[in-house]
Amino acid sequence: MNDRLEVELFDRPVGELAISGPLRSPEDWTFAYREDYLASDTPVALSVSLPLRAAPYAGASVRNWFCNLLPEGAVREAVSARLRIPDRDDFALLAAIGGECAGAVSIRAPDTAPIQRQDEETDLETLLYLQGSDAGEGSWALVGTPLRLSLAGAQDKIAVIAEPGGRLCLPRSDESSTHILKPDSRRFRGLRDLEALGLALARAIGLDAAHARPVEVANHPALLIERYDRTSGADGATLRLHQEDFCQALGYPGELKYEGQGGPGLVACSQLVRRLGLGPVAVQGLLDWVVFNALIGNADAHAKNLALLCDHKGRRRLAPLYDLVPTLVLPESLIDRAPALRIGTTQRIDDISADDWRMFARQTGYAPRFVLGRIAELADSLLAHLPSVGADIVTHGGNETRVQHATDIIMNNALRMLGKITHPGRG
Ligand SMILES: Nc1ncnc2c1ncn2[C@@H]1O[C@H](COP(=O)(O)OP(=O)(O)OP(=O)(O)O)[C@@H](O)[C@H]1O
Ligand SMILES: [Mg+2]
Repeated sequence: MNDRLEVELFDRPVGELAISGPLRSPEDWTFAYREDYLASDTPVALSVSLPLRAAPYAGASVRNWFCNLLPEGAVREAVSARLRIPDRDDFALLAAIGGECAGAVSIRAPDTAPIQRQDEETDLETLLYLQGSDAGEGSWALVGTPLRLSLAGAQDKIAVIAEPGGRLCLPRSDESSTHILKPDSRRFRGLRDLEALGLALARAIGLDAAHARPVEVANHPALLIERYDRTSGADGATLRLHQEDFCQALGYPGELKYEGQGGPGLVACSQLVRRLGLGPVAVQGLLDWVVFNALIGNADAHAKNLALLCDHKGRRRLAPLYDLVPTLVLPESLIDRAPALRIGTTQRIDDISADDWRMFARQTGYAPRFVLGRIAELADSLLAHLPSVGADIVTHGGNETRVQHATDIIMNNALRMLGKITHPGRG
C-alpha cells in the first residue's frame, strides 16, 4: 500500500503527501512542499490554508484539505466498493482516483505511470450503453474504470470532453476534461431540470455562473456543465486553472460543509474574501451568491458550493457560481428548509425577514441598505427573466410540468422576499 504520494499543481511537482502509522487517522497525515518548488519561479500555494513554507504541515489541516477532493456519500461508497478500498480509507482512495482532481491538482504514487484503460473506447454514449446508464448511484462516476479522476460532491458525475460536434468522450490519460456531466438524480428525479434552471437564471440576470445545458445521454437526462477551471492556451490547447472550495480555503473537512454541523458560516466566508484582498468584484460576488440562492430558494448553498479560482501565477478570484438548485421545489420531507449557511436567525429559506438580512449585513460587513437594495435589484431582474428562462429550458428538453412548477415556486418566493424588504410590517 502506498503511504507516500506525489502532489502536482499545474503539472509541476509541488510536494509530498504522506501518512504514517497503522490507524491512518487525521493526525497521521503530513504534507511538505518540495524545496526545489519553493525555490522556483512563482511557486503557487496549494491552498490559502496551506501557505508556502519549508516546514511540513501535519494533522487535520492536511487531511481536511485533501479529503475535500473526494466524492461524497453514495458515489464515494460505490467507487470505494468497486476499487476494493476500505470504506473510511481516504488516503487510499486519493491514491486510487486523485490523478485528476478539480482544478489543477494531480496526486499519484511516485514512479507510477498514469493508469491506461485496457480498451480504447472513449465514446461515452457507447460506454454507458454497454454498462447500463442507470446502474445505480455512482455508476456514471465509474464509467471507464479504472478511473483516475476525483470530483467532489454527493451527486453522481463524470468529467468529459465535449467535442465541437457534440460527441462526449472520456479524456485519455494525457488529456484534460472540458465539461462535467451529471445524470439526473436517482433520489430527486428532475433535479437536472432544477439545476439547469438555477444556472441559466443566474446567467440571465448577469451573474457569473457556469454555463450548462440539458442533454440526453444513453437515453438518460443529464446536465452538461462547462468547466470554469479550464481555459484555452494560445495554441488552442486546454489549460487548467486551480480551484479550492471554501471548506478547503478555511481549513474545514467536507463533513462539516453545513454550518449547523459546525462548519463555516457566512461571517467566515466574507472575512476570507476580505482578508485575501480579492477586491470589490468578489465582495459583491459573495453577496450576490447569498441573495440569489435565497431568491430561488436554495437551502443547500453550503461552503463546498462556493470556490476560489487561482491561475498559474497565484492570482485568486471568486469562481463562477455553480450548483445553484432551487431546493424549495423539492418536497420538504426530502430536503431541509433551513439555509445551509445561516442568514440572521431564520430557520427557513422561504421566510427570511428584513431583520434577518440586516443582521446578516452587520455580521458580514456589508451596509444593510446596500444589501436590501441589491435584493430588490436582483429580485426585479429575476422576475423579469424567469418566464423566458423557464421556456428555454423546456425547449432544450426540460420537463414542461416540472419546470412550470419550479418557476411558480421561485416566482412566489422572490415576490414574498421583495414584499418583506419593501413592506417589512406585513409579515
Ligand atoms: N462548472 C464547473 N467547473 C469546474 N469545477 C466545477 C464546476 N462545477 C462544480 N465544480 C467542482 O466540482 C465540485 C462538485 O460540483 P457540484 O457542487 O456541482 O456537485 P454536487 O454533487 O451537486 O454537490 P453537492 O454535494 O453540493 O450536491 C464543486 O465543489 C467544484 O469544486
Ligand atoms: Mg455541490
